[in-house]
Amino acid sequence: MTEADPATLGPDDARAEHDRLAARIRQADAAYYQDDAPELSDADYDDLRRRLARIEAAHPELIRPDSPTQTVGAAPAEGFRKVRHAVPMLSLDNAFSDDDLAEFAESVRRFLKLGPEEPLALVAEPKIDGLSFSARYENRRFVRGVTRGDGTEGEDVTANLATIADLPATLPEGAPEVFEVRGEVFMEKAGFAEMNRRHAETGGKIFANPRNAAAGSLRQKDPAVTARRPLKAFCYAWGETSAEPWASHREFLETLKSWGFPTNPRNRRCADAAEALAAFAALDAERAALPYDIDGVVYKVDRLDWQRRLGFVSRAPRWAIARKFAAEQARTLVLGIDIQVGRTGALTPVARLQPVTVGGVVVENATLHNEDEIRRKGVRVGDTVIVQRAGDVIPQVVAVVADAPRGAAEFVFPETCPVCGSHAERPEGEAVRRCTGGLTCPAQAVERLRHFVSRDALNVEGLGEKAVTEFYDLGWVRRPSDVFTLAARAEAGEISFGGLKGWGPVSVGKLFAAIQARKSSPLAKVIFALGIRHVGETTAKALASLYGSFDAFRAAGGRLALGDPFAREELVNRDGLGGAVAEALAEFFAEAHNTDELARLAAAMTVEPHVEAATRATALSGKTVVFTGTLERLSRNEAKARAEAMGAKVASSVSAKTDFLIVGADAGSKARKAAELGVATMTEEDFLALE
Ligand code: IVH
Repeated sequence: MTEADPATLGPDDARAEHDRLAARIRQADAAYYQDDAPELSDADYDDLRRRLARIEAAHPELIRPDSPTQTVGAAPAEGFRKVRHAVPMLSLDNAFSDDDLAEFAESVRRFLKLGPEEPLALVAEPKIDGLSFSARYENRRFVRGVTRGDGTEGEDVTANLATIADLPATLPEGAPEVFEVRGEVFMEKAGFAEMNRRHAETGGKIFANPRNAAAGSLRQKDPAVTARRPLKAFCYAWGETSAEPWASHREFLETLKSWGFPTNPRNRRCADAAEALAAFAALDAERAALPYDIDGVVYKVDRLDWQRRLGFVSRAPRWAIARKFAAEQARTLVLGIDIQVGRTGALTPVARLQPVTVGGVVVENATLHNEDEIRRKGVRVGDTVIVQRAGDVIPQVVAVVADAPRGAAEFVFPETCPVCGSHAERPEGEAVRRCTGGLTCPAQAVERLRHFVSRDALNVEGLGEKAVTEFYDLGWVRRPSDVFTLAARAEAGEISFGGLKGWGPVSVGKLFAAIQARKSSPLAKVIFALGIRHVGETTAKALASLYGSFDAFRAAGGRLALGDPFAREELVNRDGLGGAVAEALAEFFAEAHNTDELARLAAAMTVEPHVEAATRATALSGKTVVFTGTLERLSRNEAKARAEAMGAKVASSVSAKTDFLIVGADAGSKARKAAELGVATMTEEDFLALE
């Protein structure tokens, strides 16, 4: 058979041939791996793969995560040892406009109480779109490389990181005995293109963009493979270190460079906000011509004493922000509009699109948000639309292209749930229509289960969307607690993985081990995993800290559901919690199926009592404090952060549970109430003197 040059194939022909080849290869793989009965000679098989790779190289929009070019040679995540970061690897808050950046600088000034004349220098660094890593040096020798992972725990990629020529194997005399450098591994655009070209010729894996290529290359089982990939690195932060011989972030970067670490030559120190804005515009203009992809600019407060005072909120520092470039856009056709049903029953319209590459990623679906948005934008099936993607954000439909052929019929939003058929209600004044089926709706049940085991919740590895859906459909896992009884039921012969595709004894063993590893989980994770409305990660932590144990949490929930005013008062008084959370908990605990499930969970797993983050014992450990009046030296936020760092709970009003009232100038009713209740008071000076 003579084959057409893939580049000359039209999109439809390319897709048809791609689908045919992919199916043929999958069939051959199954015959080879699962049935031990090869259907093709090695040479014929290689020809098929090579042809598929060539088609994907000429038509990258056809690359799918499940394409055979993407699935072979990929190292399984469980192949790497897990390593806990001595100092967590954080993420950054985002700014999307000049105003956001100005607001960041202002909030830093307010927090630090800087006078208007006090200069606030920021270091601007190109934000490389790669994969962050932490490299540890002991006695000035490289000893360990770890990926970011979830920020707390990453994967040991020491052997792979060691192959990156940019990173030094040893540090010079004078460098600290223990030093962890952090940075980004990436691939340059040219190296990426050349690698894909080579792979297309040899039937190797074709990557959709340099970021995926860098990630895939760093997580190779065989470091010899990593060594052949054109990986580079830039360093920009530190983790654990036995000494900090630098006084500002800029000095830190200079020190890194002098020790032989690669730092980005485009890093700039900006003396003020105006220079910071100019640095952004300059990088934006330069962006396309840079040898690597960047998705924004990271700004960091240069003074380290200020960085220390600013500290962190949740997972991001207060002293840094990422200003993102404008979203990349593309035009494409709306093939259909689907309705997805989420964890809380929200019906979300999603446009199914003709696949199109936007900012290096193939987009096939884009959210349309809700009913009103569809109407406002006037999107119809058959329209040509502009879609955009900003960083990791879900692709969106921006607008309909007016001068292209239009779709025929206006979209009619369903009033019943497309999954379970229950009535879908849209309360007055709300934009979202919700399925009223609750957990009887399979979509909601599956989404809740997915959330329960997801990375930020209980993090059960190997139990992804596909497996959850499959187990749900089989009736094996209908509620969270079922996850923990899976192994026992398999053991007892009630269920059998025997005939299930993709679930050989090895994968099943791994799954059971992953579940077992989470059978004991911290209270905050469990509360978050329940997927209660308004209870995100930070709120879950605050609830865990308030109640301390699973039993106390359940008891309080029961009281909230009964409308107990004291239970409500205790909750809303707590910093970071409020009326919306109290209502959401009351609603959740009012449902018998929820409280029953909590009882089942309590029986099936161990919920570890909450341990406060502050480990050092301070004068404020475990105390409840309230601030009042105007503080002279600290902003309210810094005072609060300082108290929390010392292990205190900060409340907004004085009650019998308050241990200390910290009094600034012109204190009013709170000071009177404290006096009435006999609550101890201290001045700002007293507070600052506490260790
Ligand atoms: S600083 C606490 N600097 O962006 C400091 N991050 O959105 C945390 N990134 O996970 C990171 N270039 O992977 C920093 N110059 C830079 C960066 C950078 C890219 C990535 C990094 C981080 C993510 C946060």
